Amino acid sequence: MLQGRRILLGITGGIAAYKAAELTRELIKNGALVKIVMTAHATEFITPLTMQTLARKPVYLDMFQPIVQLDVEHISLAEEAEVVVVAPATANILGKISSGIADDLLSTVIMATKSPVIFAPAMNKNMWENQIVQGNIAKLRKWGYFFVAPGYGDLACSVEGEGRLAPIFDIVEEIEGVLSRKDLCGQSILVTAGPTREPFDPVRFISNNSSGKMGYALARVAQRRGAAVTLVSGPTSLPAPPKIDYVPVTTAQEMRQAVWDRFHEATVIIKAAAVADFCPDCYSDQKIKKDETQLNLSLKRNPDILAELGLRKGERLLVGFAMETVDLIANARQKLHQKNADLIVANDLGEEGAGFAGDTNIVTLLYSNGTMEKLPRLDKLQVAEKILDRVRDLLDQKRGR
Ligand code: PMT
Repeated sequence: MLQGRRILLGITGGIAAYKAAELTRELIKNGALVKIVMTAHATEFITPLTMQTLARKPVYLDMFQPIVQLDVEHISLAEEAEVVVVAPATANILGKISSGIADDLLSTVIMATKSPVIFAPAMNKNMWENQIVQGNIAKLRKWGYFFVAPGYGDLACSVEGEGRLAPIFDIVEEIEGVLSRKDLCGQSILVTAGPTREPFDPVRFISNNSSGKMGYALARVAQRRGAAVTLVSGPTSLPAPPKIDYVPVTTAQEMRQAVWDRFHEATVIIKAAAVADFCPDCYSDQKIKKDETQLNLSLKRNPDILAELGLRKGERLLVGFAMETVDLIANARQKLHQKNADLIVANDLGEEGAGFAGDTNIVTLLYSNGTMEKLPRLDKLQVAEKILDRVRDLLDQKRGR
């Protein structure tokens, strides 16, 4: 998504300036073209050489040169950037921009750009809580500036509170959101992800290898593209994506309940979760002793959530997945019809680069009109983009566009 996108990163003078190095690495790793402007105070916290090496481009500095010398430079930087990100953003830069002050290269670029500007503030807790700072943020928000709110935790000034720079993941997510087209505005998309766990005593359960990556990618991309997103997730090690209604669940029964509780608001439901088809028939309140040489588990069927949704979907668009090890297309087609889905995303666990846990997937899309489309091996975020492109098309078709 960030491949070839032109990002201007502004770094201001706070202790969190060193984290701009990690942000730069992440952006470069994702293919972004990053130019960096550092304020004079920022260079006290991290060297331009470090930033230049990471960005693979010269860093633009403001060493209190007379502003007249920067005329051409600040305009070209402001014009070519698709997005300006200030991380960390101090109380000082927020105060300057909200008051219309442009007295150095960074503030001048921010003032001159017509592109979106994202601030990721980081400062001492008392400064963050100061009503002048909060007033400035409110003004800037009203004028259309974007913010990635700071997190809570230990601060460099030895106190605990709000003021830490937001996680790099959240800042990148905001950049991607700001740069994304908003073609899913007005849609309410419910995504399920991850495995379910079916316990048979307080310490043991049956489950599967789903990491949640495919479903989380769908939730993240849908949110970026403007949808209101609910993510019902089985247990995974992934962080809850920002700006999403996140509903953690454990068992298939809990997932079913969570889905039905939110069914009425949903316009699109995407079932990427690997729901356990069976659960133990009995649950022991105490840990089962390993005295016996053999333990026989009796299993019963879990509800098929997708099939239940298919019976009552009404005008909603229903997207299911099919995870197969043999006869991918025939089995997926059967699921499409049996579960009354509008689209089935089929992946073959036997294919290298497809299915569980990895960062890529290879999927074939099967539509209810009998057509199908095979996608090449793609990163799961790219697969999510493609699936949501097709969802967009199907929604348009339903509306007769
Ligand atoms: O999470 P990752 O590690 O990224 O891996 C991604 C994935 C392989 C889990 C994903 O791409 C995928 O294939 N998800 C569906 C897995 C699955 O359960 O497939 P299935 O063929 O058994 O089920 C078909 C459909 O019915 C699925 O949409 C499933 O969510 C749904 N289902 C299945 C059983 C059940 N009891 N209730 C359901 O709703």
